[in-house]
Formats: sequence, C-alpha cells, structure tokens
Amino acid sequence: MTRTLSFINLRRSFTTLLLATAGYHYVEASLNSMMQANGKLYFGNIIDTNTMQGNEDGVLKGEFGMFTPEYSWKWNRIQPEKGQFHFNDSDAVMEWAEANGKQIRGHTLVWHQNIPDWVDAITDKEDLTKVIKDHINKAVGRYKGRVYAWDVVNEVFNEDGTFRDSVFYRVLGEDFIPLAFRTARDADPNAKLYINEYNLDYAGPKIDAMLNLIHRLQAQNVPIDAIGSQTHLTSGRVSEVPAQLKRLASTGLDIAVTELDIRIKRPVTPAKLQQQKGEYALVTKGCLDVPACVGISMWGVSDKNSWVKEALPAFGAPLMWDGNLRRKGAYGAVDGLLRKVGEGAEMAGAKVSVTRRHGGRRGRHGKRRLSL
Ligand code: XIL
Repeated sequence: MTRTLSFINLRRSFTTLLLATAGYHYVEASLNSMMQANGKLYFGNIIDTNTMQGNEDGVLKGEFGMFTPEYSWKWNRIQPEKGQFHFNDSDAVMEWAEANGKQIRGHTLVWHQNIPDWVDAITDKEDLTKVIKDHINKAVGRYKGRVYAWDVVNEVFNEDGTFRDSVFYRVLGEDFIPLAFRTARDADPNAKLYINEYNLDYAGPKIDAMLNLIHRLQAQNVPIDAIGSQTHLTSGRVSEVPAQLKRLASTGLDIAVTELDIRIKRPVTPAKLQQQKGEYALVTKGCLDVPACVGISMWGVSDKNSWVKEALPAFGAPLMWDGNLRRKGAYGAVDGLLRKVGEGAEMAGAKVSVTRRHGGRRGRHGKRRLSL
C-alpha cells in the first residue's frame, strides 16, 4: 500500500485510499499499459505518414502500443503498377514504430478495396496466383521478423454469408484464402496471421460463414492464427459484441478487436454521447473477458480525422477524442474500466504490472489476467 501510494499524485491519493479498501487501486498509466496490466498484449490505434508528425502524435505515442498503418501498406500503395514496389511510406511507418518502441499490425494483403486496376482486371488463374504470391512475398518479406501480425485477407464475405465478388474469388474461388495464408506464413513464420472482417458484431449469416470458413481452413491445416473483428460499430447496435467475440474465440484462434469506432447517427447529442460511453466500456470489457482476445485497436484518435466522416457522412463522433483533441466521455469510461486493476497491484513508474496476492488466473498471453 505504501509503495503504491508513493507512485501516484496527491490529488488522487484520497480516492485511491477509498478504492483500495474496496479492493481497487487507481494508477497513472496509458491505455496500453493498463491493457497489459489486465493480461492483454496492447491497446492500439492507426498510424500513417499523415499522423506521424501531426497534432495527434502525442496521444498516439502516449496512449498506444500497437499500430496499424491506415493506408500506406495497402496494395495500391505498395505495388501500384505490376512489379513496381514502393516502400518509402511503409518504411517510414515501420521506422517510426521501431524508433518509438511500438509494434505493427501489417494491413492488409488481399482485399477487394485499394487494389490497383491491373489486379482487378486479371482473369487467369495462374496469373493471379503468381501475382498474389509475389505481392505477399515482397510485402511480408520486407518486414520479416519486424511486425507482430498481418491482416492476410480482409473482408471476404457479403452480409448474407456468401463470398464477396472480388477478383480473388471470381478467379480462384475460395482457394485464394489458403494460398494467401500459406504464402504469408512462409514469408514471415513469426507474424501472427489474421483474417479480418467487419459486422461480426451480431448473430447472423456473416459470422456463421466466418466460423464455418475457419473450420474448413483448420481441417486443411491452413496456417491461420487469428480472427480480427473490425468492430466498426453503430451506437445502439453494440450489445451483442461480447457474445460474438466469445463465438469467434470458440475456434481456438486468437482474436482481436482491430478497428474499433462507434459512430453516432447525426445529430450528435449529449444523450447519444452518454450512450456511446457505455458502449465503449462494453466492448473493452468484452475483450478483457475473453482469454483469446489479445488486444483492442482503435481506428483513429480525433473525431475530426475519422474515416467515418467521408465514408459514412450520416454518422459522426465515432472516436474517444473530440474534434479539438479533448478526451470524450468514452475515453473516461475505458480508462476507468481498465484502472480497476485488482487487489495487490504494484506500479513501476508509468508501467503497471499486476500480481495478485490471492492467486488469480494466468492469462494465455503470459501475464496475469484479472476479472473486473
Ligand atoms: C480506410 C481508411 O481509414 C481510409 O483512410 C481509406 O481511404 C480507406 O480505408 N476497413 C478496413 C480499413 O479494413 O482498411 C479501412 O480503412 C476502413 C474499413
């Protein structure tokens, strides 16, 4: 107790004392370190050449440990013309991460969007197979041993659970998926290989199709490690997320919340922001409660810069910082939840490591996991 108090500011000490008697400690820490204190690997966000030196960079460096490049690692940026590889921007992101002690989730290899026209125009099986292998070998090979994970295939399903009509599916059928995973595994055996998808947030044909696909891939020994649930959510339709994360985890794979935002139907009102607070906490708790969930990544910092503004203009205010880069209620809700680290918490500077006096379960990621 004395040791704990020596690390916190006076303003908080009274609250701490009260909470300590209730079995909780308040700690000064980033979202990332508090996720780790709860047995997870990270709290993440997106990064790219536009935000590396922008006004959000303090928040990015201060709060988050894992980064997904927002655009510069996509196919149209890395290989806009056949055989011509451009790595200047993606290298800059990798170097930014390494210089700042951050990790990277590579995003993304095989996706129907952000592909150049020359890929979309391919009709020959052999040609497309070679093109996929070449792209993956070059992109994954370049950062071999330096990234935590790759989103190998992204958004392969329609809402009704059928496969999306992408060039990849049109020409190769479902086989493009094993092909992509096998190629990626060979190119970087240490990267966690993900299938990433949106609208896995409620029961229905899409998540059923995902679970069936995973079982087929596992039966063929396809090297897939994890499912990314993008969780681009709409406020008011969030409650099923924890249950669906559990269903994804039932595959035995790792899972991650990979692109979290919770958009609000305009007009944005204080009541709707209040609801969003609870929804952010619910999703965070959903990950904490599932041992297979390795971490959460946001898709942006400030509401001003979110992709939602352009892609879904009827909605707004999806993130945890407002347009003036002030923390919103949603931030407070997530921060408050993560702060409730359990009895016996010890602090070393800003980094929190958790031990429990009375046992406690060990999470599968090698750290103590706490039930909140
Ligand atoms: C979006 C980016 O945020 C935009 O800047 C870009 O113009 C298009 O892509 N699902 C994904 C992400 O997997 O790559 C998308 O990111 C958002 C939806």
